[in-house]
Amino acid sequence: MNQDKLNELQNKLDIVTVISNYIPLTKKGRNYFGVCPFHDDHKPSLSVSPDKQIYKCFVCGEGGNSFDFVKNYEHVSFIEAVNILAKSVGMDMGITSKQEDDKYQKYYEIMDIANKFYQNNLVSTEGVKAREYLEKRHLTKEIINEFGIGLSLSKPDMLTNLLVNKGHSLEELNLIDLSSTNHDSYINRIMFPLHNKDGKVIGFSGRIYDNSDLNKYQNTKETPIFKKRENLYNYHRAKEEIRKKKYVIVMEGFMAVIRSFTIGVTNCIATMGTALSNEQASFIKKLSNAIYLCYDGDEAGKKATLKSGDVFTSMGAKVYVVSLNDGLDPDDYILKYGENSFKELIDNAIPYNEYKIKALKKNYNLNDVDDKTNYVNKVLDEIVKEKDEIKCEIMLKNLANDTNVWYNTLEKKLIELRASDKMVVKKEDLVVKKDKKDGFNKAMESLIYYSLNYTRAITLIDNSNVYIPNKEIRILFNEIVSYYNQYGEISEASFYTLLNQKEEKSLMEVLKKILSNDYPEIIDDNQVNECLIAIKNYNIALEIRKLEKEIKEESSLERQMKLMEEVRVLKMKEGKSW
Ligand code: UTP
Ligand code: MN
Repeated sequence: MNQDKLNELQNKLDIVTVISNYIPLTKKGRNYFGVCPFHDDHKPSLSVSPDKQIYKCFVCGEGGNSFDFVKNYEHVSFIEAVNILAKSVGMDMGITSKQEDDKYQKYYEIMDIANKFYQNNLVSTEGVKAREYLEKRHLTKEIINEFGIGLSLSKPDMLTNLLVNKGHSLEELNLIDLSSTNHDSYINRIMFPLHNKDGKVIGFSGRIYDNSDLNKYQNTKETPIFKKRENLYNYHRAKEEIRKKKYVIVMEGFMAVIRSFTIGVTNCIATMGTALSNEQASFIKKLSNAIYLCYDGDEAGKKATLKSGDVFTSMGAKVYVVSLNDGLDPDDYILKYGENSFKELIDNAIPYNEYKIKALKKNYNLNDVDDKTNYVNKVLDEIVKEKDEIKCEIMLKNLANDTNVWYNTLEKKLIELRASDKMVVKKEDLVVKKDKKDGFNKAMESLIYYSLNYTRAITLIDNSNVYIPNKEIRILFNEIVSYYNQYGEISEASFYTLLNQKEEKSLMEVLKKILSNDYPEIIDDNQVNECLIAIKNYNIALEIRKLEKEIKEESSLERQMKLMEEVRVLKMKEGKSW
């Protein structure tokens, strides 16, 4: 993207105005504050600096410039964020978001044709049986349209032929799994389109409907555009609702999501099966910190609830469980007990730890002493994770009642557990603190902050010729130097824009971490020099250690003497400026 044009746009934007369009901000001193939309925030933790044109959250560490805010808030790409903001100030950047996924544009177009073809089949004369089936399942025309449901035909190769006649190659069709070994992949199934995060069709799930004994659902295999591990059913439709309602409901299957949608429960997504991939988990956690698990009420669903519940809890999310009985799935439940009953279940969702304790209880025979002891210990392991003191006490009391173990004994045990937890943390702390590396890392990170907030630092660092051992920080600094040389200025805000355009995403992560540290208000040459000395000394110390090792291993006395002289010279350099 044209950097000058980007800078022009950035200068036209005011971050306070940009963010105010999304969340209310209040002025306090020089800065503005608001409730952070990127984590489950209750106090205003997000600070917005009009001077620096950046925002930062003290709690979750999210930060960036106007583009980053729109990108993160709207879950769009950098280019889309640029376009949204350009539009808001009447600028035309001359780029379309489409350019970004040009590579796959052709595949999306083919998918679109296929989707329309399937939808057409459903309303044609060939679709009578399928329509009857959908009607039996209480899926109205409106819902069929909303979810783009269609039908693949029993006549083979209709779609393959259609697409080949439109000029697409069999190779391509096989690649995106509309065809396989040159024939239609889907035969006589009800077709549910699967969309990516931008709402483009990337695959299908086809369901049998006429008592066939084939697999119930056939899903698109892995293709360049369909990645099962990343896919979440209904995300593109639900994202706004999830934000509004401030929680997300995670389900197993898409019939559950579709049924919930019909009764106005529109903040649901599905993993398509009980397995939750790491990619899906971290995406969901970013989407919302409050996660409601609403899996099927059968054994598989219960097991999956415990698995996913542990995953999301360990990520720091607030997890609740909507627990369905009789082995019903949300679809069956809503049809059997009605919309209000289901909504009540959601309103009364159980905190995950409560659910887990209840589930644990079923696995132990509380009449057996050993079993009971194991159970008590397992439950205490859960209680120790609870941060709310009052909840802890309630849970302890319940446990005492359940097991007839004396409350004071349980409390004592809990205090012990907490202490040993802290010990582990403290020990880790000590290791890090003892390591000289800590001060040296801080020094390297400060160099980046100084360069972006005190431009004299760039020349000071560059002229010092100090080697920055950390690769990422070294790359960041080189980027800063070349940007500065070209534009004669640089800031945190403009640097965010630059990094947003890099393929390498880890640089942005490193920068965010660096900028979330605390730094002095006023920077001068001395501070920069101190950091440079710290890094220089660290480099020298490393060099000395290397030489000392060589000396030990060296057999020639003459060589040894020479190396010792080198060490002496290095030691003299240590602690001094250059
Ligand atoms: P379910 O068996 O619970 O299906 O599988 P469902 O959503 O209730 O559908 P109906 O009511 O039987 O029509 C849950 C999810 O697991 C995936 C699908 O994504 C489904 O929505 N699945 C299931 C498959 O991918 N293949 C299968 O053969 C079965
Ligand atoms: Mn079902």
